[in-house]
Amino acid sequence: MGQDTVPSIISDAGAKPDHEAKSEQEAKPHRDGKRHRDAKPDREAKPEPGPPPPPLAVPLAPGGLPLVGHTPALLRGRWDFVASLRTHGPIVRLRIGPKELYVLNDPELVRRVLVEHADTVERDGFFKQARLHIGDGLAASDGPLHRGQRRVLQPAFQRSRIGAYVEVIRRRAEDASAQWLPGQRLALDREMAELGLTTLGRLIFGEDPAADAAVDEVRQSLPVFIQEVFTRTLLPEWARQLPTPGNRRFAETGQRLRDAITNAVAAGDGSGLLGEFTRMDMTPELVRDEVVSMLIAGNDNTNATLSWVFHEIGRNENVRERLHAELDDVLAGGPVDAADLGALVYTRNVVDETLRLYAPWLVVRRANRDVDVMGHHIPAGSDVLYSHHALHRDPAVFPEPERFDPDRWAEPGYRGRVRGVYMPFGAGVHRCIGEHLFLAQIVTTVATVCSRWQLDPVAGKPSRPRTSALPRPGHLPVTARRRRV
Ligand code: HEM
Repeated sequence: MGQDTVPSIISDAGAKPDHEAKSEQEAKPHRDGKRHRDAKPDREAKPEPGPPPPPLAVPLAPGGLPLVGHTPALLRGRWDFVASLRTHGPIVRLRIGPKELYVLNDPELVRRVLVEHADTVERDGFFKQARLHIGDGLAASDGPLHRGQRRVLQPAFQRSRIGAYVEVIRRRAEDASAQWLPGQRLALDREMAELGLTTLGRLIFGEDPAADAAVDEVRQSLPVFIQEVFTRTLLPEWARQLPTPGNRRFAETGQRLRDAITNAVAAGDGSGLLGEFTRMDMTPELVRDEVVSMLIAGNDNTNATLSWVFHEIGRNENVRERLHAELDDVLAGGPVDAADLGALVYTRNVVDETLRLYAPWLVVRRANRDVDVMGHHIPAGSDVLYSHHALHRDPAVFPEPERFDPDRWAEPGYRGRVRGVYMPFGAGVHRCIGEHLFLAQIVTTVATVCSRWQLDPVAGKPSRPRTSALPRPGHLPVTARRRRV
């Protein structure tokens, strides 16, 4: 934590109050991870006579080193390190160089922070920087602008509207898999990156030939732009201004992407999401920014999840056979359409299990005021973080958490029981707006590809997710085996 984020109470009092002094101690492993003062909702807490008890100390995670803090542990242990923090209680502090992060390990605490403290624990820092590059769309905005835009855009993403997009998704999956040859070795990660990007492009710009130019530009520019946005957002202002080839390339790529979208907005009513956006109450600049947001927020995680789902289907024979049996039964050799999605129950279980294991890893916010939540004190200016990777691996909720087991989702009432813990699409005001679209996309793509092809992983070293804010796949080579023409 930087000097500006040190709790003011320390300097005011001259000595650390009890809870602050204790908070410097390293956490001891905790058996059930539950150490809240008040497990009831804040609003139901009964007033007690006398001054309120001081908030509980937020312990410092063990293993930090002088100066660098927990950075080496994080790099070495990757996200397993974040998952291991659960044993130290519902909330712990990490030191990353001079900065301090509050890591939420308890799903109820995550929910309270995202839902009940959404006005206090906001997007800041990273998002403010990102907004300079990607504009005012939902992916980076906050506050009144975000709330207004969310209201305007929400109808286009309702579950009832998504059926209209199933054919677009299916045609893309048919086209891509029609290129494969029996016995051909494919780079699954690259195939899915291309398929996901083309599908998202067509979902947004439509299938008319008039949209080809925008889709082509997005296919070329977006992967470069996304990669560079993350890097540049982390650079200091002066470094972003230098006339380096990298900065020039980034500026040019961003401009080409925005120009292509601006032209598509000016052309008006396409058949995709953009067509819907242009009929909504938004300026052309906001429509452009929302399209940029959808491209940024909807590309990498969709493509990565598509890769992981085929990877898991390929390497789990029992899962593959049951999936094929369901597809043969429900589709009977025909193309998948919107009415089939609800009947593909096992396919959906496979998708949920994939999202459990490979959902985005980190969500970060910043406390803009002191926050007391469930008896824990988070000082103003602190970064607050939670990890899907960690929540989705709690052995108390998901026995044998590393095992890929779609059948856990078949238990009656299971989805309801894990609702507060399983949150691949986040929670609160920033909950993913693309959730239903993505679910239609992945179920349709899996059904279309697996009806025709079996993708066998090439024997060798198993791929591990690469370290990043998203579980991006490394190389995933497969051999395509024809099931049906
Ligand atoms: C594997 C697929 C996906 C996953 C796991 C996912 C996950 C998430 C998560 C966790 C958030 C919340 C981030 C936060 O709290 O700061 C989010 C937000 C968002 N997602 Fe997704 N997403 C997926 C696909 C999509 C798609 C396909 C689209 C659009 C086409 C999309 C658009 C968005 C947008 C615009 C936001 C920001 C919402 C807001 O702040 O109001 N996502 N997503």
